[in-house]
Amino acid sequence: MAGALIGEAFISASIQVLCERITSPEFIDLFRQKKLDQPLLMKLKMTLFTLYVVLNDAEKKQIENPAVREWLDELKHAVFDAEDLLDEIKYEALRCKLEGKDQTHKLTNKVWNFLPKFHNHFYQSMNVKIQELLERLEDFVQLKTALGLREDVGRKVSQRTPTTSLVHEPCVYGRDEDKDYLSKVLLSDDASNDDVSVISLVGMGGVGKTTLARMLYNDHKVKEHFTLKAWACVSEDYDAIRVTKTLLESVTSKPCNMTDLNLLQVELREQLKGRKFLFVLDDLWNEKYSDWKCLQTPFTSGARGSKVIVTTRNQSIASFMQNVPFHLLKPLSHEDCWLLLAKHAFGNENYSAYQNLEEIGKQIARKCNGLPLAAQTLGGVLRCKKDSEVWNRVLNSSIWELPYEKSDILPALGLSYHYLPATLKRCFVYCSIFPKDYEFNIEDVVFLWMGEGIIPEAENGERMEEVAKEYFDELLSRSLFQKSGKS
Ligand SMILES: Nc1ncnc2c1ncn2[C@@H]1O[C@H](COP(=O)(O)OP(=O)(O)OP(=O)(O)O)[C@@H](O)[C@H]1O
Ligand SMILES: [Mg+2]
Repeated sequence: MAGALIGEAFISASIQVLCERITSPEFIDLFRQKKLDQPLLMKLKMTLFTLYVVLNDAEKKQIENPAVREWLDELKHAVFDAEDLLDEIKYEALRCKLEGKDQTHKLTNKVWNFLPKFHNHFYQSMNVKIQELLERLEDFVQLKTALGLREDVGRKVSQRTPTTSLVHEPCVYGRDEDKDYLSKVLLSDDASNDDVSVISLVGMGGVGKTTLARMLYNDHKVKEHFTLKAWACVSEDYDAIRVTKTLLESVTSKPCNMTDLNLLQVELREQLKGRKFLFVLDDLWNEKYSDWKCLQTPFTSGARGSKVIVTTRNQSIASFMQNVPFHLLKPLSHEDCWLLLAKHAFGNENYSAYQNLEEIGKQIARKCNGLPLAAQTLGGVLRCKKDSEVWNRVLNSSIWELPYEKSDILPALGLSYHYLPATLKRCFVYCSIFPKDYEFNIEDVVFLWMGEGIIPEAENGERMEEVAKEYFDELLSRSLFQKSGKS
């Protein structure tokens, strides 16, 4: 099983999937009918969780401790067996349901009387199997203590500093075309209906969405065009009151102590009445359409031509936010990445005096694959270091080897992974079996996922292949997969 090669991230996601399944309405329904032993299943869930919290620690310790390595390996098998057992229960429950419907029409009373006994027997044997699995997992729990594995639920999701509208980039590279196109859209007043135009900037973490939004917000023509402007950093913990309050305080330039959303919205609507405004809602993660509808209610009182710029990594959010096509931010060219890296590495010093470093630097820039965040981080690592040996070391090491705490890259990109549902996490982690920079086809990935058994059956009878394709699209839409140049 390829999953066995992938490691802790895959088991973590598998355990999450298992826990979700145990508490799914389908299983809860089986408890209600008293077919499965509910306390036993809950115990199974708690035991899985007890193991889940030490997986990070185990992953670190396995390098030096072969016993931990073996523990992890065996645990993988137990988790896969647990998955098979739940599959078996699910399949049987489904079969009973279908047969039940069918048999009521066809079976004589005699045979019909026999069926419940057969099913009860099945569930009893399942209860025995769950008990056995539980005992097997409890052995892992005992061993974890003996091996000294400790709770480590992993890196906390970083609390990112809120973004602001003030430009802090020494220079912005490679975005002139995007800027020209988008400022034209911003300056046009031809909204086709009464809704405020929403322009969504979409792209993977660190590609420069906020930077571009900031450029537009501070452009002098744009400044002149709008009567009111406001910037709100929305971020992961969406809070309608906080965002509305920020917008209101910006347009009135006064602090506001209202805490009631209704009062805030009424006041904001009053302030916007008949005035042309530009709002930036930076870094949207919330996927609830109704929340967005509620947030934008006061916006409709603004004058025609008012605009909202939204930045997000998720195309699905963009598609319900926007009423003009969203703007996909492409990675920078290698040349722009190099200029950006050099700016951070050399500051205002002219790098042409360091030809040997320029050669190595250009190769390092290629490794950034057009991601400005990576170019900036590596430029920062090389800042004031004029020794070609140091530059070569960076060239020959992986970006991922930078200490987590010192790099902005992993925390920024890790966020996209953190917010994935567990089933999608497994599919994503599975792709780590591909070599770096590998270009894969949707069909190949879909078949591999299906072969690996990591695509759950759809409740609505949709074919597994369709579900897998939807997962692929979802990862693409969340900017975790990138379309290759050829597709
Ligand atoms: N075109 C560019 N030229 C120079 N620096 C850039 C450019 N684009 C981005 N940067 C720098 O790269 C870093 C990441 O950019 P930014 O914060 O705009 O990315 P993002 O797409 O908004 O990421 P996230 O999805 O995490 O919000 C920033 O520090 C920014 O200064
Ligand atoms: Mg951003």
